[in-house]
Amino acid sequence: MSFTLQPLAPARPNRCQLFGPASNTKLFAKMATSDADVINIDLEDSVAPSDKDAARANAIEAINTIDWGSKYLSVRINGLDTGWWYRDVVDLLEQAGDRLDQIMIPKVGCAGDIYAVDALVTAVERAKNRSKPISFEVIIESAAGIAHVEEIAAASPRLQAMSLGAADFAASMGMATTGIGGTQENYYMHREGQKYWSDPWHWAQAAIVAACRTHGLLPVDGPFGDFSDDEGFRAQALRSATLGMVGKWAIHPKQIALANEVFTPSAEAVQEAREILQAMEDAKARGEGATTYKGRLVDIASIKQAEVIVTQSEMING
Ligand code: COA
Ligand code: MG
Repeated sequence: MSFTLQPLAPARPNRCQLFGPASNTKLFAKMATSDADVINIDLEDSVAPSDKDAARANAIEAINTIDWGSKYLSVRINGLDTGWWYRDVVDLLEQAGDRLDQIMIPKVGCAGDIYAVDALVTAVERAKNRSKPISFEVIIESAAGIAHVEEIAAASPRLQAMSLGAADFAASMGMATTGIGGTQENYYMHREGQKYWSDPWHWAQAAIVAACRTHGLLPVDGPFGDFSDDEGFRAQALRSATLGMVGKWAIHPKQIALANEVFTPSAEAVQEAREILQAMEDAKARGEGATTYKGRLVDIASIKQAEVIVTQSEMING
């Protein structure tokens, strides 16, 4: 272990982040009563340029008037390369009450992007005496974002979460695909007449998880565009969970239950983790640092692996 201890990520469930365009006001009440842990009202790429001002006003009204229950409430602002983002921040911070928890900053490319938003947010919070500091989440969805992922993760104490945005990421990287997440037809190995599909998102996901775990953020998998493909979503989400991500976006209500299922440790997984912890307690009592559980090695590292599952389960169950 390094002398520097790994910081803990925020202890709140983030299994599913449900998105909806702020221009589609009839979705707000449905989002509020959904089973998603996090709600993302979108001002960015699901809102047409001609609708930006109306969408911003809709979002503020919805934050102030709808009962969002215990949901973590976030608004995705427009990118720092647009003329909309500063008004998004100023109006949200001046006009939306303390129910707003978080701002999502899209397409971040360097730590300075976060610094710029932090400076503006901090100024408005001071001027308006806001009692609750707004937290940040970011989307890594460009070549610059992934190249600078670690400095971005370290950029502000406001940062709580980081998502991979597959569509913009693919475009920025020049990837030859229009698919949003999941298996890509042309990304395969070939052997003896058979195709074996591989995972083109793996490296970016692992880089995000490492940056997040180093700096105490929640790593999240972004959108899966084909909302008629439940098995494709499930496979993508299972891979993300296996790599250390804590949740996934839903861009349609169908995807909420799938995400919650994958990112909630199963009763069997929790049971097995508890049995491993018990096996290691018994080993310790015998003065042993390693023992056998169901025919396989478990040792002191297994305690930490098992604790990840038990802690996640206890946090989700409150
Ligand atoms: N949140 C809550 N409810 C939603 C929803 C969402 N994001 N998307 C759809 N619904 C509701 C619909 O209103 C409809 O409700 P009803 O049964 O009461 O009429 C029901 O779910 C079924 O919707 P469906 O007809 O299958 O979809 P649609 O054609 O209305 O909308 C999309 C499809 C993709 C346009 C819509 O789901 C959407 O806007 N998703 C979010 C897009 C987004 O935010 N993108 C940015 C992040 S990538
Ligand atoms: Mg995007």
